[in-house]
Amino acid sequence: MTGFKGLFILLLGITSAFATSRNSQVVFDTKNYDNSVYNSTSSTIQTLHLSSVRSHEFTALKHPRFPKHQVRVKKTAFCDPTVNVYTGYLDVNEGAKHMFFYFFESRSDPDNDDVMMWINGGPGCSSSMGLLMELGPCGIDMSSKSPNGTNWNPYGWNEAANIFFLDQPVGVGFSYADFGEHVDTTEDAAKNVHAFITIFFETFNQFAGRPLHLSGESYGGRYLPVFASEIYDQNQVAQKEGRPTLNLQSVLIGNGNTGISTLYPGRYEIECGTAALDVPVQSISTCVRMKMALPRCQQAMKNSCIDQFDMINCQAAVNFCDSEISSGMWASGRNVYDISKMCVGDDLCYEENSAIKNFLDLPETRTLLGVETPNNFSACSSEVGRNFAAHLDKWAVPTQYYVAGLLERGIRVLIYAGTYDWQCNWVSNKLWVDSLEWSGQEDYGNALWRDWYVGKQKAGEVKSTPLLSFVTIRGAGHMMSFFSIATLPNKVIDP
Ligand SMILES: *[C@@H]1O[C@H](CO)[C@@H](O)[C@H](O)[C@H]1NC(C)=O
Ligand SMILES: *[C@@H]1O[C@H](CO)[C@@H](O)[C@H](O)[C@H]1NC(C)=O
Ligand SMILES: *[C@@H]1O[C@H](CO)[C@@H](O)[C@H](O)[C@H]1NC(C)=O
Repeated sequence: MTGFKGLFILLLGITSAFATSRNSQVVFDTKNYDNSVYNSTSSTIQTLHLSSVRSHEFTALKHPRFPKHQVRVKKTAFCDPTVNVYTGYLDVNEGAKHMFFYFFESRSDPDNDDVMMWINGGPGCSSSMGLLMELGPCGIDMSSKSPNGTNWNPYGWNEAANIFFLDQPVGVGFSYADFGEHVDTTEDAAKNVHAFITIFFETFNQFAGRPLHLSGESYGGRYLPVFASEIYDQNQVAQKEGRPTLNLQSVLIGNGNTGISTLYPGRYEIECGTAALDVPVQSISTCVRMKMALPRCQQAMKNSCIDQFDMINCQAAVNFCDSEISSGMWASGRNVYDISKMCVGDDLCYEENSAIKNFLDLPETRTLLGVETPNNFSACSSEVGRNFAAHLDKWAVPTQYYVAGLLERGIRVLIYAGTYDWQCNWVSNKLWVDSLEWSGQEDYGNALWRDWYVGKQKAGEVKSTPLLSFVTIRGAGHMMSFFSIATLPNKVIDP
């Protein structure tokens, strides 16, 4: 580790000379909606292209329609030397909240390829986890061989799309608030995400009108349908007022948490049935106990969370279900994100997590990224998790209604799931998707499951209608791309 670190410092010592600070900025004020900007140095109006952004300091961008917000962005030599890479902050509410993002241009045709957003779940987990462990242009180096701490990922999703990774809400990853403000519900978080994406698209002319896809995993199964709905609804307002809209096309959810009524039956099938492994991992006695508790858990959830939400009774129902249905799995020491393995490292069960934390806490990495917060990266913020839990955010609103609302308005939805995950497993997802009420329900019900292959090897199953698709990835866990990185062609989940 020391050898690697020494090399790393040597390499990045060059860039650390360009330390960023919030005081040294070039400020552009966007003067009109066609995204030309006013260059205060030359006193001329010019069109801002991302490539004109500097690497040693943030360029601050303001937008007249969002007077309380600004984007600060810089170019960086992080992660993918084959494309232009940018990092920065969206300063929300007159600069009190700062949302951090990474942006990678597409490796194919950045000027024409679609734009995609990726977010991790939690709630409270940083999107840098997905970036450095799953689908990003580079992965964390676990062998201590890479001179820069990462390895180039030939399967990064920016093979075919421009992609940004957003740490949200504030308090997550490198996103922070100046005065301890916090966001505690998905519906609230949606407003900042919408502002972020709007400012981004309206500021960088080259992306205006470009198809937009929202992707993410886990708690993203709740985030994304709400975020996409906010974008869709705000588009209607923008259209009425003659302002540009966001060209939202699809939502992609991996091992998501969406319909809560099917969560526990799904977990039972993964653990005690053969939905994941050929031989169930859980003991027979525990499975019998779970099976007996399941109808009570379901009834209590239906009464207090689903039919009519009641904060105190719903919490009691969830506590009962967790204690009876979930505790056996936690006690087994298995990896809840991949039941074929044992849990290693911290609660997130992968050695990669602490390696990513160490990497993102290195002063060199922080200088490269322009990070403004102290060295104390946390993969998942327990505070944000607690705040969402205090509002029962996961249980209070039936997120599948948002999915139905999007489908009715022509937004495509892909639900995909690695089959070895227990936490947000494929069975739970299949159950809520099958029972989703929308005008295409019958067509979806009639569509046939078919196998899909990588080469000659069966990789999973797929069921597809023009708007709604469901894909399983055999033998992958919760962080799907982490497992299939070597075998899965990007085309499968290409928007
Ligand atoms: C703004 O104008 C100055 C002076 O002409 C120029 O050097 C600078 O590159 C311009 N900034 C951008 C971002 O184009
Ligand atoms: C980091 O090092 C690896 C291994 O040498 C290399 O493949 C990759 O391109 C480098 N990344 C950057 C951002 O220079
Ligand atoms: C670092 O993180 C831990 C855990 O989140 C927190 O308790 C501690 O106060 C943090 N320290 C600093 C210096 O921010």
